[in-house]
Amino acid sequence: DRGSTARLKRLAATAAAELVEPGMVVGLGSGSTAELVIHELAARVRAGTVLTGVSTSRRSERLARRLGIPLLAPEEAPSIDLAIDGADEVERGTLHLLKGRGGALVREKLVAALARRLVIVVDVSKLVDRLGERTPVPVEVVPFAWIEPARELERLGGKPVLRHTALGQPYRTDNGNLILDVDFGPLDQPEALAREIKLITGVVDHGLFLGLTDTVIVGEPDGVRVLRR
Ligand code: A5P
Repeated sequence: DRGSTARLKRLAATAAAELVEPGMVVGLGSGSTAELVIHELAARVRAGTVLTGVSTSRRSERLARRLGIPLLAPEEAPSIDLAIDGADEVERGTLHLLKGRGGALVREKLVAALARRLVIVVDVSKLVDRLGERTPVPVEVVPFAWIEPARELERLGGKPVLRHTALGQPYRTDNGNLILDVDFGPLDQPEALAREIKLITGVVDHGLFLGLTDTVIVGEPDGVRVLRR
């Protein structure tokens, strides 16, 4: 149930925040679990610890600013020591990730690429045997002629659906783009699919994060489990 999921997320978030050392530049993820990490880090800042954040979405940026975490743009940060982010699915065997349900995938992937290390925080419900089991693959496309990348995604075997807001408007990312949620079913060859999607004109990026993390902190009913690759 939702109450206990929140507790498991908090367990993971607290454990991840403990990896942050004074003076670090930290990538601040997006989504409800990553926001719990931001709250933990803000408490440290209020207690006098020096930390700097680099945000992965406007929403995380607003939250961090409101809570008093000093922020830098990725270009201004000398380096990012550690990024902490959530995920929508984590493949047990490989620690490959599916992300982007919250729409922040491009900035999340850029901050992950800049960071020395990406640590993922999830509750146990996010673990899957194969990516795509439950969640479509979000693909960010430029708004112009989005029907063309949608057709190419169909040719790859997917079923693309343009994401809409609760009010029925096309959903816009922080970058002003659209999201196609593409159901491919459980993925047998995520690497090959990830390459094919990137080759499509009009695609900015997709929510497959392969080989980007070596540590996933999982909140479970009787504590935290750390998965390493
Ligand atoms: C945001 O675009 C996603 O990649 C998030 O990391 C993901 O949706 C996790 O959010 P929750 O922690 O709220 O499940």
